[in-house]
Amino acid sequence: MPHDRPLADVDPEIHQAIAAERQRQNQGLELIASENFVSRAVLEATGSVLTNKYAEGYPGRRYYGGCENVDAIERLARSRARKLFGAEHANVQPHSGTSANMAVYFAVLQPGDKLMGMELNSGGHLTHGHPLSYSGRDFKVVAYGVDRESERIDYAAVAELARRERPKLIVAGASAYSRVIDFERFRSIADEVGALLMVDMAHIAGLVAAKVHPSPVPHADFVTSTTHKTLRGPRSGLILCRKVYRAAINRAVFPGLQGGPLMHVVAAKAVAFKEALSPQFADYQRRIVANSQRLAEVLAGYGLRIVSGGTDNHLFLVDVASIGLTGKVAEEALEAAGITANKNTIPYDENPPMVASGVRIGTAALTTRDMGEEQMDQIGEMIFEVLKEPASATTHQAVRRWVEDLCAEFPLYD
Ligand SMILES: Cc1ncc(COP(=O)(O)O)c(C=O)c1O
Repeated sequence: MPHDRPLADVDPEIHQAIAAERQRQNQGLELIASENFVSRAVLEATGSVLTNKYAEGYPGRRYYGGCENVDAIERLARSRARKLFGAEHANVQPHSGTSANMAVYFAVLQPGDKLMGMELNSGGHLTHGHPLSYSGRDFKVVAYGVDRESERIDYAAVAELARRERPKLIVAGASAYSRVIDFERFRSIADEVGALLMVDMAHIAGLVAAKVHPSPVPHADFVTSTTHKTLRGPRSGLILCRKVYRAAINRAVFPGLQGGPLMHVVAAKAVAFKEALSPQFADYQRRIVANSQRLAEVLAGYGLRIVSGGTDNHLFLVDVASIGLTGKVAEEALEAAGITANKNTIPYDENPPMVASGVRIGTAALTTRDMGEEQMDQIGEMIFEVLKEPASATTHQAVRRWVEDLCAEFPLYD
């Protein structure tokens, strides 16, 4: 039957593009801090027949028949998420980190309410109140930043701002912040001003699961996350909350913001949570941080300035203006040499985001390939070689060959 024909026959163009992407992932160095490589088991679940199933509602209370298998899957995903993070309630249906955040806002805020989040330039995320996001359009936003000197969150300044502005919800969490976040401190600030606290742990969820970063769960009313960064699951979202908010969160996700859950992705999340409960995963998370610290030290040794002087987690920011480059130039030069990283604004950046003065570097994906500190030394040297002569095609080619040789030693997908 025509349904049985392989992708290569049905759609050679898409088949070819996927093959080329597999090759790109195999042969390049992936330093994008928000990416990772999922296991074969997670890929299998994501590509399963569950994509065919409609399952609006929640286990045991669906709007469609034939849900017995997906009910079992969603129950497993929820209980594993609760166990992994020690949470009272888990909603595993948000399609992404953005929709998880939106669901919390939808559950507890009214348009015009005051939201306090970290500004983009200091490492915050668009959905924490940036004017270009729904979060900055529908709510009154007050933004906190980092201290100019230490480039770390200044908790006294956050407390001061909260006292002055009295937000209804405080958002902690970041996309480009390399230091431990003190969630207990955020809780006490929220309590002092009568605010709710949401922590978006998208980047550090894997570290939190492995207890390599303190958990926000005991302190926050709501914890949101993506599942595809350090947590190494499929591209998706997650909300954890206290029991008292269970009904409000569930209603906000469905029918508030979404229709049918993506059950193939929910299954893949369940698989990723199971993997994350293993001792090997905790070891993997510790190695991510060791690699991140090593690579930051190596680059600092070559004279590159690391924002805040180092890192406690899976990522760090390199201030490439310290060697006369922009983030855009650095990103493009690295790309030409087979090294993928993203330009990123740094605190108090004078360049706009599409130019930026920094490059964000993360080690979660490299560590999945089993690369260790020895490889970080080599990768630091590669990065420095490229940034020293960003316009040199000869350097790009030489480093690209080096990258490919290194990647061949650490195969990824067949
Ligand atoms: C802290 C944080 N929250 C939310 C998101 C949004 O996640 P998604 O791209 O799945 O919508 C990101 C993505 O980078 C993030 O870093």
